[in-house]
Amino acid sequence: MNQDQLKQAVAAAALDYIRPRIDDDTVIGIGTGSTANLFIDCLAEIRGLINATVASSEASAQRLKNHGIPVYDLNAVDQVDFYIDGADEANRALQLIKGGGAALTREKIVTAVAQEFICIADESKLVHTLGKFPLPVEVIPMARSHVARELVKLGGDPVYRDGVVTDNGNIILDVYNFSIPQPLATEEKINGITGVVTNGLFALKPADVLLLGTASGVDTLR
Ligand code: A5P
Repeated sequence: MNQDQLKQAVAAAALDYIRPRIDDDTVIGIGTGSTANLFIDCLAEIRGLINATVASSEASAQRLKNHGIPVYDLNAVDQVDFYIDGADEANRALQLIKGGGAALTREKIVTAVAQEFICIADESKLVHTLGKFPLPVEVIPMARSHVARELVKLGGDPVYRDGVVTDNGNIILDVYNFSIPQPLATEEKINGITGVVTNGLFALKPADVLLLGTASGVDTLR
């Protein structure tokens, strides 16, 4: 199977995973990216059963609406039962790097609210040590140079993601050459830099389940 087929397989597996627990009150959080898009398309098959979704980006909200699936503002719902999203990297502790699609802050907000975070990824995303994928950091525009200097002090090589403005009106610095053996400490340290909105490490609140697409099938990691 190629990477697209593995993504399709985990998207379908995520629907199988949550479907028995969907009822009239269920609110489903929806992530961002190509794997999340495939999940949205799977969800469309059962659109009549969907009470509500919340989306981690304008792009995902639009895709849901195009399928006729109801999308709500996060502040309009009382709870989020599941959050389904992809990742750029995952380790075996289910700590993640996310934000390749620049949606990291809203992804982290929906993750914070969700009772269960189900990450869906193909096996190329599983790593021993996080950091080969450049770590995205969302930054208030006026703090760009300050934050970049602080990231250099931490040992990284920050690069401005040219032309990208997040859904929140901010910019992204991608930190290259930055191995992350201690994700919890690194997540806290970077979030402590003034001007940082958040960084793409999901270690303080990792995924609860990782559905990993492999050549031999979908593995469930907890
Ligand atoms: C979006 O900002 C990201 O966090 C995505 O979840 C991540 O980049 C995975 O994207 P793909 O599913 O396209 O690989």
